[in-house]
Amino acid sequence: MTSYETFARFYDAVNEEPRERILQILKAISTYRPDAGSVLELGCGTGAVLAGLGSGLSLTGIDLSKEMLAYARRRCPHARLIEGDITSFSLGEKFDVIVCVYDTLNHVTTFDGWLSVFDNVRAHLNKGGLFIFDVNTVGRLRELAEMVPWVHDFDGHTLIMDVSFDDGQISMWDIRIFEHVSDDDFILHHERIPELGVPLSRVRDALAPYFDLLEESDTVGGVATDESPRALYVVQRKSD
Ligand SMILES: C[S@@+](CC[C@H](N)C(=O)[O-])C[C@H]1O[C@@H](n2cnc3c(N)ncnc32)[C@H](O)[C@@H]1O
Repeated sequence: MTSYETFARFYDAVNEEPRERILQILKAISTYRPDAGSVLELGCGTGAVLAGLGSGLSLTGIDLSKEMLAYARRRCPHARLIEGDITSFSLGEKFDVIVCVYDTLNHVTTFDGWLSVFDNVRAHLNKGGLFIFDVNTVGRLRELAEMVPWVHDFDGHTLIMDVSFDDGQISMWDIRIFEHVSDDDFILHHERIPELGVPLSRVRDALAPYFDLLEESDTVGGVATDESPRALYVVQRKSD
């Protein structure tokens, strides 16, 4: 079973609309690449971010999960959606902007995998193109593991999410959804999704040879540290 196979059906109901990130992406594009015509999203999931970017851009999304892509097709019919792995894709074309948000990069569970993503981004970006991405920090993953499991009622169902982070690198998100099918019966769906935590200095060092750092923030305008909830990056492909 691949990740998100069962969670896909509940993903949009459990997660808030990604308005904040969409606005940040649009602001970065208008600041650094106002003439952008094309955007590729890595790990586009159910297409919530692509759908929010508007119809003025040519939109492409890539994701490993057939189930997530099925929702994205309904939500964002004007985007081109491709089933593929962000560590090894080759589309034979370049984009003005590539985005990878809401922890998608953390889902790649080796740092060599992150380096492959950065290489693929560079290969698929036009000269001066932007790469906009966020990561869950090591501090955030540790904090989530110290918290009591998150219990969330939605649409008559119940989600229980328990995060562990035993070795300080791979955090495991144990997700149980109790789907209430009648007053006295439910179906239990269970998924375990791993996320890799990487110190931000390592991320910056890996980007430095090929990208100029335009912005690094804690996603709410402050300085990003390994203790911030997330870190948001806007980087620009250097000339060859
Ligand atoms: C947390 S969701 C984020 C979805 C979307 N970016 C959003 O903001 O709503 C992570 C997504 O990354 C996808 N994903 C994880 N690893 C991947 C990989 N190696 N290649 C492609 N997609 C991947 C998952 O299938 C999932 O849809």
